[in-house]
Amino acid sequence: MEKNKYIMTVFGCQMNERDAETLRGFLDELGYEEVEKVKDAGLVIMNTCAVRQKAEEKVFGHIGRLGKLKQENPDLTIAICGCMVQQEEVAKKIKKSYPYVDLIFGTHNIATFPELLQRAQESEETILDLWDDAGQVVEGLPVTRKDGIKAWVNITYGCNNFCSYCVVPYVRGRERSRLPGDIVAEVSSLAAKGFREVTLLGQNVNSYGKDLDELVDFASLLHRVDTETEIDRVRFMTSHPRDFNEKLAKVIAEGRSVCEHVHLPIQSGSNRILELMNRGYTREHYLALAEMLRGYVPSCALTTDIIVGFPGETEEDFAMTLEIVEIVGFDSAFTFLYSPRKGTPAAKMPGQVDNGVKKERFSRLLEAQNRWSLERSKALVGSVHELLVEGPSKTEKHVLTGRTRQNKTVNFTGENVMPGELVMVEIIEARTWSLAGRLKT
Ligand code: 5AD
Ligand code: SF4
Repeated sequence: MEKNKYIMTVFGCQMNERDAETLRGFLDELGYEEVEKVKDAGLVIMNTCAVRQKAEEKVFGHIGRLGKLKQENPDLTIAICGCMVQQEEVAKKIKKSYPYVDLIFGTHNIATFPELLQRAQESEETILDLWDDAGQVVEGLPVTRKDGIKAWVNITYGCNNFCSYCVVPYVRGRERSRLPGDIVAEVSSLAAKGFREVTLLGQNVNSYGKDLDELVDFASLLHRVDTETEIDRVRFMTSHPRDFNEKLAKVIAEGRSVCEHVHLPIQSGSNRILELMNRGYTREHYLALAEMLRGYVPSCALTTDIIVGFPGETEEDFAMTLEIVEIVGFDSAFTFLYSPRKGTPAAKMPGQVDNGVKKERFSRLLEAQNRWSLERSKALVGSVHELLVEGPSKTEKHVLTGRTRQNKTVNFTGENVMPGELVMVEIIEARTWSLAGRLKT
């Protein structure tokens, strides 16, 4: 174990991945090196997620196991950060139950990480530092991105939507937009460094700019990134159906670099449940959006998030969700069992759904969605797509893998093809989760 070697585990969404890149940037500046094995590390960092109970349980399991390691190596530094510990009672519980943890810090004070780390390494006590408020957007923090091909770029931080099931607004604070000029400059510099693709990140990208003095919305930001930078591909997530509009669909249709993929979480197909969720749209609105988007961008992939077993969800409500899955025919969906989160309105709602019922509905939903995913993949057989090559496939080393503009994974064999290249492939076989392709020369 060496003091200047670290290992970082990241849970949860792309926001957390992006924050981890900032932490890596700081650690690079401090002369640290990332290692693969916990036993080689002098510093263990966990960037945690609070969206569902399961993610939190995993973190508690990890922290528990680190206790033995700390006994063997008292010099080991253990740091826990992210959304889970931004909840004060959880942070306090960790401090009390796992006193060997050296540093606990939240989502708002990431910019002070080097100072916090130093304090934690010098102190015998656990350093617990949470800020209630994020304050201004901080620009210019260091960042270490791993692959040199694809990059996450924040456009907004926080969320103002307060969907009744969701803990994010409480742990990530109010919505703050970065200035469009800063975003465009960052994408330009990534393109100049050889990056091929950026994903613009926000909890609700469609409300970008509402908090700025400058008159700017997401569609115009996307248009600027498309026309003012040299980046090959631009993606964005997550879209909110309430704020998604025709202007944006046109930018996707006309954009040179804007990829034909929209991740548009529907959460439920029942208007009654959508209302209880405080989502701010109806199933009819969602269906109209899907139709409008496909009108402008016929090749657009549409993916979604769906929660099963929200409080009060009846068999009829669930049937409406299943029906929407059949009507829209999503390319893929992230499906979740509703997980009550302390402090959110839904956790206190009557009619919490029995776990067995949730699981049974979940498997019916999965069956319908898997059928559609395969259906959508099959429709691509015989067509030719631009692929951004990522590298060898995870399972077969001699097979390469890449993604189409619609964000479909394609595995193919080919010589003299390097990660980061854009190649054309013909789809030859469809599977539920991926496609097989043949290089077109
Ligand atoms: N339970 C289950 N799923 C949730 N999500 C957010 N909060 C919860 C919760 N309490 C899901 C939503 C969201 C995705 C990122 O996580 O579907 O879109
Ligand atoms: Fe959570 Fe809703 Fe905000 Fe998404 S839009 S982060 S689901 S509150």
